[in-house]
Amino acid sequence: MTTMWKLLHKLKDAVIYDADREFYAKVFPDSVNPRDLMRIRKMDHADLAQVLTIEQRNYEFPWSEGVFKDCFRTMTYSNWVCETPDDAIAGYGILSVAAGEAHIMNISISPRFQRQGVGRKMLIHLIEYARPKAEKMFLEVRPSNPGAIDLYHKTGFRQMGVRKDYYPAKQGREDAIMFELDLVRRI
Ligand SMILES: CC(C)(COP(=O)(O)OP(=O)(O)OC[C@H]1O[C@@H](n2cnc3c(N)ncnc32)[C@H](O)[C@@H]1OP(=O)(O)O)[C@@H](O)C(=O)NCCC(=O)NCCS
Repeated sequence: MTTMWKLLHKLKDAVIYDADREFYAKVFPDSVNPRDLMRIRKMDHADLAQVLTIEQRNYEFPWSEGVFKDCFRTMTYSNWVCETPDDAIAGYGILSVAAGEAHIMNISISPRFQRQGVGRKMLIHLIEYARPKAEKMFLEVRPSNPGAIDLYHKTGFRQMGVRKDYYPAKQGREDAIMFELDLVRRI
């Protein structure tokens, strides 16, 4: 089979699978994981109000609206949201890719959608988006964030060092644990 035919078959299977999933979700709502009905798409300015609400709920030192607006202006950034079928933003991810290196700048899931696999879904999306463009992916995380650290370990990231006093903290500063993922070698 030619590469083009293989591609067309893959596309057809994906479309049919999605249609099936939506059908089953309507007829047997309990048979489909709500996370599977969420879609990841590029973030838009119109998403900022919901994104900022999540940001402020999730972090003691949240990014300002200006920082998010800068993310739209920066050519090397790609900004993503995970959206429910009824248009609520469940979470978002900000990725920078330049000079063969990808950097996750922010990944954040609304408290009401946490622990449902949405963070993992967003992280895997960012990895697969970056894979053809970069050889390595990096991120930083606070040592006081064991849930996120667990997610990164499970997704194949490797701890590569510590940045002293990287983050602002209630009492002074907090270190950052640096993680890396090899995008060339499949996880
Ligand atoms: C960290 C975060 C992105 C995880 O997203 P999530 O949708 O809740 O995580 P998932 O449901 O996809 O969980 C995937 C894995 O992460 C780990 N994990 C996530 N949250 C956890 C928690 N609160 N406690 C322990 N482990 C946790 C688990 O290993 C989990 O796997 P499991 O479900 O098989 O146990 C989310 O909690 C969040 O947005 N936190 C606030 C913002 C933040 O800290 N971002 C990261 C900055 S570096």
